[in-house]
Amino acid sequence: PSETGRVLSIQSHTVQGYVGNKSAVFPLQLLGYDVDPINSVQFSNHTGKLLLLHSNRYPTFKGQVLNGQQLWELIEGLQENDLLYYTHLLTGYIGSVSFLSTVLEVVNKLLSVNPKLKYVCDPVMGDEGKLYVPPELVSVYREKVVPVASMLTPNQFEAELLTNLRIESEKDGREACNILHAAGPPMVVLTSININGNLFLIGSHQKEKGLSPEQFKIVIPKIPAYFTGTGDLTTALLLGWSNKYPDNLDKAAELAVSSLQALLQRTIKDYKSAGHDPKSSSLEIRLIQSQNDIRNPEIKFRAERY
Ligand code: ATP
Ligand code: PLP
Ligand code: MG
Ligand code: NA
Ligand code: MG
Repeated sequence: PSETGRVLSIQSHTVQGYVGNKSAVFPLQLLGYDVDPINSVQFSNHTGKLLLLHSNRYPTFKGQVLNGQQLWELIEGLQENDLLYYTHLLTGYIGSVSFLSTVLEVVNKLLSVNPKLKYVCDPVMGDEGKLYVPPELVSVYREKVVPVASMLTPNQFEAELLTNLRIESEKDGREACNILHAAGPPMVVLTSININGNLFLIGSHQKEKGLSPEQFKIVIPKIPAYFTGTGDLTTALLLGWSNKYPDNLDKAAELAVSSLQALLQRTIKDYKSAGHDPKSSSLEIRLIQSQNDIRNPEIKFRAERY
């Protein structure tokens, strides 16, 4: 594998629990990356996708939100000390148009320092047919963010929002990847699509503009439980491994999925042995306990080329 890099990661921070930067920074460090986190929010605990998706009420958490101007101040501080050289920018959940617009300015600034910068973007907007960001964000992602991303990791619903396509089959998933390639990113990973109760990850790498992309799927057995932080962890692992294997997105995805599934199995096992029912609530992932599975995953999930 080739060398690692220096990642600027702009994501949420929670005091307790693992989402956003809390579930991305440690794994990337384990894979050998220098990671500089900017915390887009600092909350006491995560809001839980269950709450985000299934409640109209403001969920209970306390904390602070960084605005676009405050993000830019941090970037200026780095710039004034000549510290803006990054190989990768990683972004996840972003809650407002003003913050997302500033992130676009950050992309341009980092590109001016390193024209080879890779921008890995998880366009977090919603899940299971429900939006959990302000609706104005959708067109900003579609029109401004997707065109500058090097790798995009939407879930099924997000890919639908970005392409205006309904994804009801593997073929639809591959077509959504083609549409996204045409809009910008050479690498697209649909982190999960649910077809008749089966989960698939679909990966697509367009190695040159105009060429048809190399596409593959990984079948993932659905565990009857609800996790948080797994999307953020998936994108971090895909960044980490795809940079080590730049011509083998399928291998990178096998490594990422294999790490993640080992971690999910450990999470389930630990909840059960502590006497909890894993189906009853949103589960906190066992990230620290899974460090060997992150550093050295045993590949148990194989990519199948289309
Ligand atoms: P986003 O962060 O953009 O919302 P996402 O919806 O794909 O992405 P998750 O639903 O957390 O994020 O899924 C991320 C990865 O974790 C996927 O590859 C998925 O298969 C795996 N995963 C999450 N929940 C389960 C589950 N219950 N059983 C098996 N795998 C799961
Ligand atoms: N960021 C924040 C602030 C959250 O509250 C959550 C989920 O609760 C996430 C990120 C996690 O998203 P995912 O489970 O898709 O990684
Ligand atoms: Mg999901
Ligand atoms: Na995703
Ligand atoms: Mg997510």
